[in-house]
Amino acid sequence: TRILIFPLLDDGSRYVAEQIATTIRSRQANGNYCVLGLATGATPKKIYAHLIAMHRNEGLSFRNVVTFNLDEYFPMRPEHQQSYARFMRDNLFNHIDIDFKNVHMPNGTIDAIHVHDFCQRYEQQIVSWGGIDLQILGIGRTGHIGFNEPGSPSDSETRLVSLDPITRKDAVPGFGCLEAVPTHALTMGIKTIMQAKRIILMAWGVQKAPIVKRTLDCEITEMVPASFLRQHDACSIVLDRLAAMQVL
Ligand code: F6R
Repeated sequence: TRILIFPLLDDGSRYVAEQIATTIRSRQANGNYCVLGLATGATPKKIYAHLIAMHRNEGLSFRNVVTFNLDEYFPMRPEHQQSYARFMRDNLFNHIDIDFKNVHMPNGTIDAIHVHDFCQRYEQQIVSWGGIDLQILGIGRTGHIGFNEPGSPSDSETRLVSLDPITRKDAVPGFGCLEAVPTHALTMGIKTIMQAKRIILMAWGVQKAPIVKRTLDCEITEMVPASFLRQHDACSIVLDRLAAMQVL
C-alpha cells in the first residue's frame, strides 16, 4: 500500500482528480472505455468539482467513461435529497458529458424480493465491462468501505446490508433525525472492491485519524473492513495532514 500525505484536502483532491483524468485519457487514447468505481459523501466532493472544472476548462471528456457507484441507501427513491443517485447527479453527472446509459448505481427502489437478482446483475455488468479500472473510496469511522461494515467477509459481493449504528449516527445531519436515517443499504462487497485493478482510498480531517491508524496498523481483519485493502497490490491511501496525524 502506498500512503500519500498532502497538506490539505484540496491538494489531495487535486491529485486524485488528476489520477482519474489521466486514467480516462489513456484509455481514450487507446480507443477503450474507462470503467470508474465511484463513491459519494463528503470525501470525494472536491474531486468531482475538480473533474467538472477539467471538463469545462481542459476539454476532459467523459464520453468513454462507464461508472459503477459503490452503494445506495435502501429503500431510497432517487429524487430524495439524501439519495446517492441525487448526490451523483448534483455533484458530477449533470455537469459533464457522460452518457447516462453508461452510469450504474445500486437501485434503492428495487422490490425486496428482486434485490438478490439485481445485485447479481450488478456484479455481471461490472465483469462484462472488463472490471473496474480505478475505484475511489472513502472510509467510515467504523472502518467501512462502501457500506461494508465490520463483519463483512472478504468474499462478499454486491448485497443488501444493515448499517452500523455509528454510520447511522454520522448520517443524522443530512436526514434531520436518527429515525429518518435508513437502516439498510445496497453495497458492492469487499470482493467486488478488491477486484478493481487500481484503488484509491481517501480520508480527510482529524475525525478520520483514529480509523486511518487502525486500518494501517491492525491485523487484516473483517472487523476493520478497510484493512483488506492492504492485500491489494495497486492500492494508494491519500490523506491530508490531519487524517494522517496518528500515523506520522
Ligand atoms: C459512500 C461510501 C462510504 C463513505 C464513507 C465516508 O459512497 O461508500 O463508505 O465513503 O461513509 O463518508 P464521508 O466521505 O461522508 O466521510
